[in-house]
This record gives sequence, C-alpha cells and structure tokens, in this order.
Amino acid sequence: MKTLPLFGSLLFLLSTASLFGQNANLPDDLLSEDFHAERREALRAKMPNNSVAVIFSNPVRNRANDVNYVYHQDPNFYYLTGHREPHSVLLLFKEKQRIEGKQTDELIVVRQHNALKELYDGARLGKKGAQTDLGFSVAYEGPSFADLPIDFSKFDQVLFYDFQNDVRDTKEKADLYDLIATFKQKVGYPENSSPTLQLEPQQNNLDTKTLDSLMQELRGIKTAEELDLLRKAVKISALGQKEVMKAIRPGMSELEVQGMHEFIYKKYKAEYEGYPSIVGAGHNGCVLHYIENYKPEIEDGELILMDLGAEYHGYTADVTRTIPVNGKFTKEQKIIYDLVYQAQEAGMKVCRDGATFKEIYNATAEVVNQGLLELGIFKSLEKEDMINPATGRNRYYPHGCCHHIGLDVHDKGHYDTLRANMVITIEPGIYIPEGSPCDPKWWDIPVRIEDDFLVTEDGYELLSDAAPRKSEEVEKVMKQPSFFNEVDLPTLGGEE
Ligand code: GLY
Ligand code: MN
Ligand code: MN
Repeated sequence: MKTLPLFGSLLFLLSTASLFGQNANLPDDLLSEDFHAERREALRAKMPNNSVAVIFSNPVRNRANDVNYVYHQDPNFYYLTGHREPHSVLLLFKEKQRIEGKQTDELIVVRQHNALKELYDGARLGKKGAQTDLGFSVAYEGPSFADLPIDFSKFDQVLFYDFQNDVRDTKEKADLYDLIATFKQKVGYPENSSPTLQLEPQQNNLDTKTLDSLMQELRGIKTAEELDLLRKAVKISALGQKEVMKAIRPGMSELEVQGMHEFIYKKYKAEYEGYPSIVGAGHNGCVLHYIENYKPEIEDGELILMDLGAEYHGYTADVTRTIPVNGKFTKEQKIIYDLVYQAQEAGMKVCRDGATFKEIYNATAEVVNQGLLELGIFKSLEKEDMINPATGRNRYYPHGCCHHIGLDVHDKGHYDTLRANMVITIEPGIYIPEGSPCDPKWWDIPVRIEDDFLVTEDGYELLSDAAPRKSEEVEKVMKQPSFFNEVDLPTLGGEE
C-alpha cells in the first residue's frame, strides 16, 4: 500500500518524541537540576521540626470552549522542582520518612502517561522522567497519590497554600482537582461546603501561613543562576525599548508598538511576556495597567507609555519607557519627564543593602511632590490638594515605587529592608489625566520611568541600562533608523 511508508515514518517520529521525552530540544540555560535540589534543601532547612510542605502545580486555565491558555507553572512549584507540567504535587519532609520501603525527605507526584493526550499535547515526563530529568529518587504518577501511606496527622505542621477554589475538574483521572481533593481528605481539611471557605492560618496541624513567609525569604534573594536569567530577561526588554524608540512613528497602532517589543523578545528566545504588555498613548498612559492597547492610530504630539517585560526561562523583567511619538518632547512633556527622571535618580541614590523600600519611595515622592508644587500643579502639599478623595491616593503619583522581580513580576520577597542580591524595580511616575485641577496644558501627560536594579553591598547595578533614560538620550536614539521601518506588507484591501 502506498500510504504505508508515510504511516510508518509518522509512527517512528511519534515514538522518537516519547523516547526523548519532554527534554528534547530544550534550551541549555534553564535552571539546573542542582539549583532546584539546593532550593528544596534550603526550604527544608527553614521548615519547623516534624513538618511537611505540600506544594501544588498551577491549574490549567481555560480561554474559551476547548482552548486553554498557554500553561504557566506555579512559580513556587517551578522554583523547587523545575517541572513545567500541570497536575502535579511536591511533598517535602523536614525529616526523612519511610515510604513504601524507601527512606526519603521528598517526593513528587506527576501526570501519568496517556498516549492519546500525548499525541495532542506532547510527551509527559511520567514517573521515570521525574526521576531521570528532575532528579527525584521517589516519584509517583497521579493515581498513586490516593494510595500513598502517609499519615499527615503525625506531623506537627502541614504547610501549604490555602486553595483558591478555582480549579476545574478536567475529568482526567488524578488531575489537579483530584489531587487537591485527595490531599484535603488525607489531612482532614474541613468539609468545603462554601466555595469561598478558607482556613484560619493555623487549624489543627494545618498551617496556611508559614510556607509563604519561608518562600519570601528564599525567593527574595537571587542566586547566581537566577541572576543570569534575570540579566538576560532585562537586557532583552531594554533592547526592545531601544529598538521601538527608533521605529515608532505617529499613525502606528498601539498593538503594532506592542508587537515590535514582543518580536524582539522572541528574537532573543524569551518565551513569553511576564505580564500583559502595557502600551498606552496619550490619555491611555494615565491608566496604570492599561492592557487593551487598542488605539488604532497614535497621534503626533502624544506621549506613549510602554511598560513591558520579557520572560526568559521563567524570569521576568519589568521596564517602562515613556517617549514622544514624534521623537521630540513638547516643553511641558519634557518638564514632567525630567521631573520623573530626577525622582528616579533620587530613589537610586538611596538604594543599597540596608536601606528600606520605604526610604526609596520617600526619596522619589519628595522630588515629585516638591516639583509639582513648584510648577503650580499642586496648589499646596496639604492633604486636600495632594490626595484624590476618590482613590485615597496621591493625585498624580498614585502607586508604589519598588517591587522585587523574579519568577513573578511582583515577586516574592520581604518588603522592608533591602539586601544584596535582591532584584527590584524603581519606578516613579506622574500621571495628569484630562480634567485634573491644574492648568490644562499639563493634561494627558503620563510619564513612568521604570528600571531594574540588582541591590549590592554599597549601592546597585542598573540592569536595564541598554534602554536610554535621559530625555536628551531618548530624543537622540529616536533619530536613528530601525529595521522595523523596512517592513513593507500589503494592505488588507488587496492593493499592492
Ligand atoms: N508592570 C507592572 C508594574 O510596573 O508593576
Ligand atoms: Mn513594576
Ligand atoms: Mn512595569
């Protein structure tokens, strides 16, 4: 039969795919197996005596009908395992346990093989892969979890994150829905009659508070391997900002601008954006988390605020530039831009091991508020003038200034004292929407400048310096040509 050879080679390809498993063709700079093992060891060292930590993978999220969003692993679970598949759970024991004849202080439960599902979605690691590729000597596939002879009542503390009750039952045996149900039953989690029931932080031996504070301690300080990935994520994002500065023209759409950034990310092999890209021209820039990016034609004379971050192997940058679409700031735009720049510089001066997050915020707010007063935009620095009663926030600088970045854009970490090897943003902003109680010449000027910093013993390292920050440098780079301007596509109307 003529079709046989083709069929034969298809079969061969499929069996090759599962032979090599999930790890064929992976980048060679993912976090190493040793990194994850060492992080588990570090968590174990911080856990209370006679405790167990239970960490679940993220749920699969449905987009519509039978299409799901691209899967994104739970950052804690990824940090501790390196496993990128859903429907899994990690158990870490403070002390070694005897489980089915084996002494171990950890075990992982992963999805069981399923030829039909793997045909559509790709190979699963399964138990063997979890042992060889993730380095767990004790691994199980989902259906075994219910039968595992673990008596949770003997632990003084069972540490876990309480459930958000937002997990769908996929009907596949031992999916996340079932794993959680099994866990709840094993630990005597109170019968969940209300979908919003959450435990008290400590109930019997169930503890839904301690694990998060331990993860904050660990994840807030970056290791050398994490720093390598963060540097790449930030550099890619800054190069995206610089290229877009060269390419942008009035008449482009916000979506096109977004697409140019994201093309650069992919060009450098960053898999995703760490959060939905924020690209707001004119008034849209005053919406702090504007992600529709719908404006079909950005206008000559407008500012455009671009807050985007490449996610590289799980680690995300968070970089914002605000630029004049036509390449030249107006007088008022430049005054506000330079004020935000000075505020950021003031924050940077404070940044070092031992300083506090609050001190950085205060340094930036002092410059912003004083500057706005001198410009007559604030009538006074009295509460009635500075605070918008509708939001309870500073009228023109309504957000915080710093956060950790890492596996989450607003990453886990302590938010009091800065320590060496934290990676944080410094991101002051001024937003003056139309209708604000000041001279209308300031209206619709939104500016945020956001950069990413490695905190050091005696200061910081600016990681996003590939993107110009100073207004004069921005204008200079905007005069340069970009390869994007060579792109010449036919119109949808069909004319050449
Ligand atoms: N991109 C969100 C933020 O700057 O915090
Ligand atoms: Mn940020
Ligand atoms: Mn941002």
